[in-house]
Amino acid sequence: MSIVIAVDGTAASGKGTLAKKLAAHYGFAHLDSGALYRLTALAVLEAKGDPSAEADAVRGARTIDLSRAGDPAIRTDVVGQAASQVAAIPAVRAALLDFQKSFLAHPPGGSLGAVMDGRDIGTVIAPDATAKLYVDARPDLRAHRRWLELKSMGIARDEAGLLAELMARDAADKARPVSPLKQAPDAALLDTSDLGIEPAFAEALRLVEPKVRPQLEGMLKDRHRG
Ligand code: CDP
Repeated sequence: MSIVIAVDGTAASGKGTLAKKLAAHYGFAHLDSGALYRLTALAVLEAKGDPSAEADAVRGARTIDLSRAGDPAIRTDVVGQAASQVAAIPAVRAALLDFQKSFLAHPPGGSLGAVMDGRDIGTVIAPDATAKLYVDARPDLRAHRRWLELKSMGIARDEAGLLAELMARDAADKARPVSPLKQAPDAALLDTSDLGIEPAFAEALRLVEPKVRPQLEGMLKDRHRG
C-alpha cells in the first residue's frame, strides 16, 4: 500500500501549490486532478461540443491529452467553468476514476507515495488516505491570487469578475449531487487566508507529518531489508 496525501479545497485556495510542495518534500508523485476535468472541458470546447451534455463530455473525458496538462489554455476561467460543468456528470467522473486510482496505487517513478489535489480525493477517490487536508481561504483573497496567477501567464482579467466566477464555481461544486466538494470528517482544515506560501506549507507539513512519517519510516525499513 502506497502512502496517499489527499488535498481538497475551494478554487484558488492554494491546494495545488501545497500539494506540489508536499510531493517534493517527501519525494512523492503529484497529480492535480483538476487538470483532468480541465483537459476534458478543453477537449469538449475544442470539438465545439456542449460541456453540460453527457455524450459530449464523456467523449471529452475519453480523449484527454495528458501531455497538455501544463498548457496555459486549460487555466482560463472559461475552461474552469466548463470543467465544473463536465465534473458534475457522473459518467465523466466514472471515466476518470481508474486513472486516478491506479496513480495512487502505483505512483509513477516507483515513489513510495502520491499527493493528489482536487475536490473529492479524501471523500471519494481515496477515503483511506494516509493524511487529508481541506484547504480554504477568504474568497476575495482567492480571487486576488487567481488574478496574479493569470497575470503571470499573460492573461488579463478583472478581479471582480474572477471573484464572481470563483464563488459561482464553488457553489456549484458544493451543491452537485455527485462527489460534491466537502471537508471529509477526518480531514484537517487549513485556512491559508493569512498565510504566505512558506508559512502555509509549514502548517500543511505540521498537520500531515504525524500521519505520514511513521508509515514512511516503516516502508523505508522494509525496502532496506528487501
Ligand atoms: O484551480 P482551481 O481550484 O480553480 O480548479 P481545479 O482544481 O483545476 O478544478 C476545476 C474544476 O474541476 C472544479 O471547479 C471542479 O468542478 C472540478 N474538479 C472536480 O470536480 N473534482 C476534482 N477532484 C478536481 C476538480
